[in-house]
Amino acid sequence: MRQLGDVIPRPVSVRSDPAADFAVPADVSVSAAPAAAAIADELADLLRRATGYAVPRDPGGSIRLELDDDAGATSPESYRLDIAADGVTLRAPAVEGLFAGVQTLRQLLPVKGEVVLPGGRVEDEPRFAYRGTMLDLARHFFAPADIRSFIDTIAQFKINHLHLHLTDDQGWRLEIDGWPRLTEVSGGAGTGIDGAGPGFLTAQDYTDLVAYAATRFVTIVPEIDLPGHVNAAQVAYPELTCDGEPVQPRTDAEVGYSSLCVDREETYAFVEDVIRVVAALTPGPYLHIGGDEALSTTAEDYRTFMTRVLPLPGKYDKRAIGWHEMAAVDLPEGAVPQYWRIEPTDDGVARAAAAGHQVIMSPADRSYLDMKYDDSSPLGLDWAGLVSVERSYDWDPADRLPGVGEESLLGVEAPLWSETLRSRADIEFMVFPRLLAIAEIGWTPQAARDWSSFRERLAEFGPRFEALGVTFHRSAEIDWR
Ligand code: ACM
Repeated sequence: MRQLGDVIPRPVSVRSDPAADFAVPADVSVSAAPAAAAIADELADLLRRATGYAVPRDPGGSIRLELDDDAGATSPESYRLDIAADGVTLRAPAVEGLFAGVQTLRQLLPVKGEVVLPGGRVEDEPRFAYRGTMLDLARHFFAPADIRSFIDTIAQFKINHLHLHLTDDQGWRLEIDGWPRLTEVSGGAGTGIDGAGPGFLTAQDYTDLVAYAATRFVTIVPEIDLPGHVNAAQVAYPELTCDGEPVQPRTDAEVGYSSLCVDREETYAFVEDVIRVVAALTPGPYLHIGGDEALSTTAEDYRTFMTRVLPLPGKYDKRAIGWHEMAAVDLPEGAVPQYWRIEPTDDGVARAAAAGHQVIMSPADRSYLDMKYDDSSPLGLDWAGLVSVERSYDWDPADRLPGVGEESLLGVEAPLWSETLRSRADIEFMVFPRLLAIAEIGWTPQAARDWSSFRERLAEFGPRFEALGVTFHRSAEIDWR
């Protein structure tokens, strides 16, 4: 039988009551507030698969999902789960909390065997509102079915944002109304690293993905990387270069060689049009404008460009996120720097935090899921070092950068760059189990985390990943069940 605390991320408070174990009976049924009907259906389906019972929806259900608008709740994702001998009650102030609680309940179901839920009470809420991961669709495109499958798995660990890196030197992966060559040319055959990652999302594909993610309470964060990382855009539209001359497609992994032309008005017409279109397609609050590694843009040009472009997401009702380099300029209200450095370096991020900006922590040496686990990892890079599961887990985003403490953090994100990846299995191998470490950092209070507990709880997920058909790295750090 599972123990009540055997959950990732670890809940804030767990009180076990072994006298109150709930042996799920053959007549088990689920009731839910109307707003939570889809979540109740999902739970009924999970129970059906675990037990083989019919698990109907029934107003007098032995498993009840209740919305309880408790004014004391600090987060819509908070929930309280009570498991007693005669049934289960899950209460939350909002559907987000019911979804989070169902993910906890899901992990308490055994992979096989008799279904007995461990008795007691879980009270839970997230440390940070933003718990994210990122897929790089530019270096290698992954089809909507792969992205949906990824969303299904990450949501089980209460990851609630998926950042899509949609554009880079090697490809442009989102159809933009009015700029058809971006995807016709730079999303077509021969794009991506080694020319092996062609494809793009039509506007409809993207809209469908955003809607699918919303059913898993995952917010899509689209990134258009500017003013560097733009070779694919310039291949499609040579007028985006300073001299208007065509540039060659690139399928290598170099960075820092391309830049939009900061002195030309055409640049800003393009940028604003793209931001307007992407904002209109995106119901979530964020639009990521990149800003990293603009190594062939002078510092002065970078500031000129960013000062002009950073207000544009706001003009279209989005909050700008950008890699931390953007903090070189005074940020507009609500803008969020995403810090990816290895060494604590003052890039203006602490100054932005002091001015009230929230920060997303993604230090490459801890959170980059494309780093190799160890010397023998067949996939991945190592420029930020080797990132074992323990290294992914054993750090605190609130002490990474002086001046950027707990109260300045919007949250954490674990990016996955795709230079070496070619398939869904490749993605999963790099992400699982390390994303579970980042998920726990983002959800569980720092004081309630420790590696030895995480390591033991993680061991149980070997058979669970197998049952889900999800590839994962059997790191030797873990005594897998
Ligand atoms: C980055 O790794 N260039 C954000």
